[in-house]
Amino acid sequence: MFSTVLKIHSISVTIFFLIYFIKTLLLLSNANEKLEKFKSYTKILEMIVSTLFLLTGIYLITKIPEIKFMLIIKLMVVAGSIPLAIIAYKKSNKILALISFAMIVAAYGLAEMSRTKKVSVEVADGKTIYETSCAICHGSDGKLGMAGASDLSQTSLQATEIVQIILNGKNAMPKVQMSEEQANAVAKYVLENIKK
Ligand code: HEC
Repeated sequence: MFSTVLKIHSISVTIFFLIYFIKTLLLLSNANEKLEKFKSYTKILEMIVSTLFLLTGIYLITKIPEIKFMLIIKLMVVAGSIPLAIIAYKKSNKILALISFAMIVAAYGLAEMSRTKKVSVEVADGKTIYETSCAICHGSDGKLGMAGASDLSQTSLQATEIVQIILNGKNAMPKVQMSEEQANAVAKYVLENIKK
């Protein structure tokens, strides 16, 4: 459900963006007649897309465990740009149209930035996940050998093999619940910090 809604959200945001972009271009190039035509052609599409954009956005917010600071800024910027855009197109005001378009672009730039940051936070979490999920059997140095656990300081496995063992288990080792990104981060931690 979540991923379907996320897909609809991305698609409607992209179409919304395109319409908005073309309108801004037409306004800036003084193509008033074309702008009016384009507006009337895309009126219904824009209504559908912006409704989907909003509804899926609201659904996604209720599903996110904690609302991040970046997300609030993004929402405020998007919310602020809409009335600006409406006024801009009503009055054919180019400066307002440019400002509101820049605001939307900035909001999506922010969204991308926070996404990249999240990935690097997950990589840094390799150690934390190892300590909480692996060290009980393997020990902080990899040598504990609890319940027959292999000595990870002597492992000859590749990162991809370690990821498979984490996600699927191996003989006496139960599979450990985590995302593939997290498993990659732990495997990286094992190879760089535990293996001698
Ligand atoms: C409940 C105890 C337990 C936990 C928790 C556990 N392991 Fe294991 N692990 C084992 C056992 C037992 C084996 C030996 C499996 C075999 O080969 O029969 C093993 C084997 C492995 C191997 C194979 C090593 C080699 O060179 O063959 C890797 C890699 C590994 N564990 C990584 C991890 C990581 C990373 C975590 C944390 C995400 C983890 N394990 C959590 C018990 C555990």
